[in-house]
Amino acid sequence: MIEKYRVLTQQIESLISGENDKIANLSNIVAAIKATCPWFWIGFYEVKGDELVLGPFQGPVACVRIAKGKGVCGTAWAETRSIIVPDVHEFPGHIACSALSESELVVPVYAKDTVVLVLDIDSDKKNDFTIEDQAGMEAIAGLIGANWGQWK
Ligand code: SME
Repeated sequence: MIEKYRVLTQQIESLISGENDKIANLSNIVAAIKATCPWFWIGFYEVKGDELVLGPFQGPVACVRIAKGKGVCGTAWAETRSIIVPDVHEFPGHIACSALSESELVVPVYAKDTVVLVLDIDSDKKNDFTIEDQAGMEAIAGLIGANWGQWK
């Protein structure tokens, strides 16, 4: 993992250590990512029944509910994989919450092999996500997933 994400992951580990409140932890995690990374929208959607529901985020107001299999977020959940979209205008079914969005990265968070959240990131520049960004966000997702069972 690149240095920036090693440091960020360590910072997040210490932010959540000893705290089991889900909203507090997810809020601090998005704030920590936003302080390190240039993207204009960073946030979580939580799996609730058969849809994703907006959770803590930083950025402009966003759509609240996304059905499984819909948009980039619903596709990442349904297909249980991270997705980099270099140009959102080329992704069939992309849900445009903001006209600013040009590229997107979505990383599922797994707790015991089940997707419980997705981490969604939007950039106002095309081709703004690398495999290193994906690996960094997957490391953060791994930390969340490992702790999810303890969070209320
Ligand atoms: N673009 C996403 C929807 C969420 S917003 O970007 C915050 C999608 O297609 O799933």
